[in-house]
Amino acid sequence: MIIETLVTSLAPDGTVNFAPMGVEWDEDSLVLKPFLATTTFRNVSASGAAVVNLTDDVMLFAQAAISSPRFPSFPAELVRGVVLEAACSWRELEVVRVDDTPPRSRIDTRVVHRGRRREFLGFNRARHAVLEAAILATRTHLIPADQVREEFAKLQVIVDKTAGPREQQAMAMLTEHVARR
Ligand SMILES: Cc1cc2nc3c(=O)[nH]c(=O)nc-3n(C[C@H](O)[C@H](O)[C@H](O)COP(=O)(O)O)c2cc1C
Repeated sequence: MIIETLVTSLAPDGTVNFAPMGVEWDEDSLVLKPFLATTTFRNVSASGAAVVNLTDDVMLFAQAAISSPRFPSFPAELVRGVVLEAACSWRELEVVRVDDTPPRSRIDTRVVHRGRRREFLGFNRARHAVLEAAILATRTHLIPADQVREEFAKLQVIVDKTAGPREQQAMAMLTEHVARR
């Protein structure tokens, strides 16, 4: 099963990177699959560590999908890395193996620490719709513009039915971003 997360990683100079990443989930071992061109791949393969943050705040996925934001964070407990303040919970990871066969790496990791901050609320269709829209926003160079518009129109219906203000705002931001492309 793939769980959508925000991965935090550190560059050699200590710069923090936040990136939405789907992670292959297991209890004690997680697999990251960043494309080779991503900062996440460079940081995690060089540092041997990452933090996987779980959050129900889809605005953060939307922002990180279309820009390089600096979200508030604090130092991780056991690995060289940081935890997203807005995380509901997090896993600290040590890299076990890196397969850098192009175009997408496979980074096997071991969970060395878990932390929890707040409740993760249940299913919400608008939040899932915003996640899908965020993924589409990162793939506008691969998908025909008409198809992106059609997908966004369908996702907007779900957002209109079930969103709160934060999800509406996130969807509006993504819609504006893809319209400019
Ligand atoms: C929900 C979601 C899941 C994503 N999963 C992945 C993934 O597994 N691997 C990947 O390379 N990019 C994935 N992306 C796209 C990256 O987040 C995007 O390319 C980002 O710019 C990479 O950031 P970085 O260069 O700062 O690491 C995903 C995007 C979203 C919105």
